[in-house]
Amino acid sequence: MTTAPFKFDEIGYWSELKLDIVEKYGSAYTKAFANQKRLKKYYIDAFSGAGVHVSKRTKEQIEGSPVRALKVSPAFDRFYFIDMDADKTAYLQKLCEGRSDVYIHTGDSNSYLKRIAADDSISEFQPCFVSARSLWAASRLGGHAASGTVEGG
Ligand SMILES: C[S@@+](CC[C@H](N)C(=O)[O-])C[C@H]1O[C@@H](n2cnc3c(N)ncnc32)[C@H](O)[C@@H]1O
Repeated sequence: MTTAPFKFDEIGYWSELKLDIVEKYGSAYTKAFANQKRLKKYYIDAFSGAGVHVSKRTKEQIEGSPVRALKVSPAFDRFYFIDMDADKTAYLQKLCEGRSDVYIHTGDSNSYLKRIAADDSISEFQPCFVSARSLWAASRLGGHAASGTVEGG
């Protein structure tokens, strides 16, 4: 049980299911591209939260999507975590301490996603929605090939 200077979000059953899907989908995704070394896999979580939630069902803490993405094997090459709530990104920053492959941004994901998309190293996206809300995968082929999944909500 970890503590924070703010209240963790309480999430319902459907969100718990979604988190399991994020983890399994992430792993299937990186496995599928494991042999394509030039294709960089980026995980982009546009609504990352703090990395920890409380289950409405059990009242126990459960890992949020960013923490689950960090555990995916084979690992993603890079992680972008975005949330407009500074308390949450500060907490997540602590969870990710020492990791040079993690980029955390506090602010509106809509504008930050445009910045990521404008990055020279990512020029082509192939959206692949895997949840009814906003989980999608983006990939770029070519020069500095990169791909990834974007989690939202
Ligand atoms: C349900 S929570 C996070 C869920 C997280 N993806 C998970 O599954 O563990 C949604 C988060 O989105 C953040 N949020 C809402 N609108 C946002 C926006 N436009 N830009 C960035 N973050 C936003 C909220 O602060 C909240 O922490």
